[in-house]
Amino acid sequence: MFGNLDILAPDPILGVTAAFRRDSNPGKVDLGVGVYRDELGNTPVPAAIREAEREMLAGQASKTYVGPAGNPEFNERIVALALGPQAVRLRERTAVIQTVGGCGALRLGAELVRASAPDAVIHVSDPTWANHEPLVGTSGLALRRYPYYDPATRGVAFERMLDHLGRLPAGELVLLHVCCHNPTGADLDLAQWSAVGEVLERRGLVPYLDLAYQGFGDDLETDVAGLRMLAERLPTLLLAISCSKNFGLYRERAGALAVVAENAATARAVETHQARTARRMYSMPPDHGAAIAAHVLGDERLRQAWQRELAAMVARMKALRALLAGRLAARRPDRDFSWLERHRGMFSLLGLDPAGITALREEEHVYMPPDGRINVAGVSEANVDRVADSLVRVIDRR
Ligand code: LMR
Repeated sequence: MFGNLDILAPDPILGVTAAFRRDSNPGKVDLGVGVYRDELGNTPVPAAIREAEREMLAGQASKTYVGPAGNPEFNERIVALALGPQAVRLRERTAVIQTVGGCGALRLGAELVRASAPDAVIHVSDPTWANHEPLVGTSGLALRRYPYYDPATRGVAFERMLDHLGRLPAGELVLLHVCCHNPTGADLDLAQWSAVGEVLERRGLVPYLDLAYQGFGDDLETDVAGLRMLAERLPTLLLAISCSKNFGLYRERAGALAVVAENAATARAVETHQARTARRMYSMPPDHGAAIAAHVLGDERLRQAWQRELAAMVARMKALRALLAGRLAARRPDRDFSWLERHRGMFSLLGLDPAGITALREEEHVYMPPDGRINVAGVSEANVDRVADSLVRVIDRR
């Protein structure tokens, strides 16, 4: 047994963290995995989350099983956070299950689709998060790509995207990043969301929405305006929610999968399939992180405190974008780096080829995944000049 298994190549994102840890160079910089970092390079637990954790534990009378669907208060509150006023209107048509982070939600959603429509195709953006295709594709569903990013403008290739979606057959799924597109940082604007909603409706396509960064782009409301537009318009959608980044709960694996179905009867059936799928794969989700998030969302004072901390993180990421763009422009005034400031969330694509990315890692000790995505939260006042020097040296060589 197992003698036939080869050693696999490292994960494109998590492998960067491992390689970074092995590097003993004191000037090394990690622009890899998508975690928020403060000026010292730490990923803090927000104070409101710490406080909620203490209160939640103090009030926890038992650790008996919760059940495959997880914490009902978490499920209700996290969907309300995402859908806002739409959550109330759609309540009867919504089936929610707490999941093992946003990844668990994405996978569970794909399993549900396969149970209902084994021949359905899921279309993902080109490019997309490095784990989307492995995670969703392992369900057995076919995956294809739709045009999304235009390297020339560093924005969304919207005409091509819309044209492509406009030719897909009814019943297929379109995986959309709700905000802070990973890895490009290029988001749809509201007019574009509206046009996407129109084409999905006209073609009978089902949106599969990945919401991993609510509150990390601009704020908790602005970031989900496109999602809410689709929820208002379309009969069916899947929504995979992660609490990793905005609640700072990364390792606790808190997330949810919400399915808005065409009617209440279908939603009740979906609930039973969600629970059975979870039971067959891992039985039940971990409680701790979801219980913390539920507590924060249910307590006005903690919620306000958390939102202030979230706003400070966003302000810092925007400031870092401006800082890095400015330092790069100062070194190379002939080049445009304003795209760094136009992008939202933690990521932007540098547009370097694999040799450039290897040179950055091996010669400059600056780490990023093989697609050339940078996490701007890995930049700091202290390392920005070093990062800008390294990037310019490698850019100039090409
Ligand atoms: C990322 O994109 O870096 C994060 O979502 C972490 C991960 O699991 O890949």
